[in-house]
Amino acid sequence: MEKHPSHTSIKRFFLSLFGNVLNFIYVNPCIQSVFSALSIYGEDGLFSMHNHDFMKDPHFRSAYRRGIQANGKDLYWKWRVHVGLWAASHAVQLDGDFVECGVNRGFLSSSIMEYLHWNSVGKKFYLFDTFHGLDDDLVSPEEKALGRIEESHRVYPDCYMEVKKNFQKYKNVTLIRGSVPSTLFTVSIRRVCYLSIDMNNYTPEIAAAEYFWPKLVPGAIILLDDYAYKGFLPQKKAFDAFARKKGISILSLPTGQGLIIKP
Ligand SMILES: C[S@@+](CC[C@H](N)C(=O)[O-])C[C@H]1O[C@@H](n2cnc3c(N)ncnc32)[C@H](O)[C@@H]1O
Repeated sequence: MEKHPSHTSIKRFFLSLFGNVLNFIYVNPCIQSVFSALSIYGEDGLFSMHNHDFMKDPHFRSAYRRGIQANGKDLYWKWRVHVGLWAASHAVQLDGDFVECGVNRGFLSSSIMEYLHWNSVGKKFYLFDTFHGLDDDLVSPEEKALGRIEESHRVYPDCYMEVKKNFQKYKNVTLIRGSVPSTLFTVSIRRVCYLSIDMNNYTPEIAAAEYFWPKLVPGAIILLDDYAYKGFLPQKKAFDAFARKKGISILSLPTGQGLIIKP
């Protein structure tokens, strides 16, 4: 049933207020030290009293620090990065290469390279991005209404030269600059064991998932950054349809990510 417009604006107001309070909590060192003393995890929309000892692991810590260095600032993504590192550690044991569509400054991909000691891995890492934000022409009306284009213009200034410098120390890393899906056909990638998709809009994301699906080896991981994330429902709907078509299911994670294992 159609909701009364004033109900919708009140709901929006409270959600935005709640979001601002949460953002204040994530970045506030005093609140974070209280959380730490009480063994509470609280950032990035996720609050948990469950064990999160991964945060004390020196390998995790140095990988996460590398992500911050690449990005220029912390994104408070510890549990998300933990999931990414787990996925990469699983995938690295399979045949095939690593791909990320939606790299930005390389927070997650740099953490992974640090964690896996990339220069000794012997695989290729293909990094697809415009390196200056979303391709406006691919953003759906529903996503436009959610403010995706304005957000992209605000948050993603051109970063290509910095990103190139960031990855210089790693072997076998290829940056593919331009809009997905057009750029997918410009490189020859035969087998993929790890595919991270994080472009904040579903048209290129689904195109990338379709393109790489036959190239994914059995057991390969697709990590969807925004699958269950608040405010990104169009991507969830599109990937649910993708999953139905492929006869698979997506593990919805409390971090907002979605996880697919290729059968
Ligand atoms: C949320 S950021 C990615 C964050 C990244 N995974 C990290 O670890 O920091 C989304 C990225 O997707 C890129 N992007 C969005 N649409 C794209 C498209 N059609 N083709 C290529 N890149 C795209 C943007 O330029 C932006 O850098």
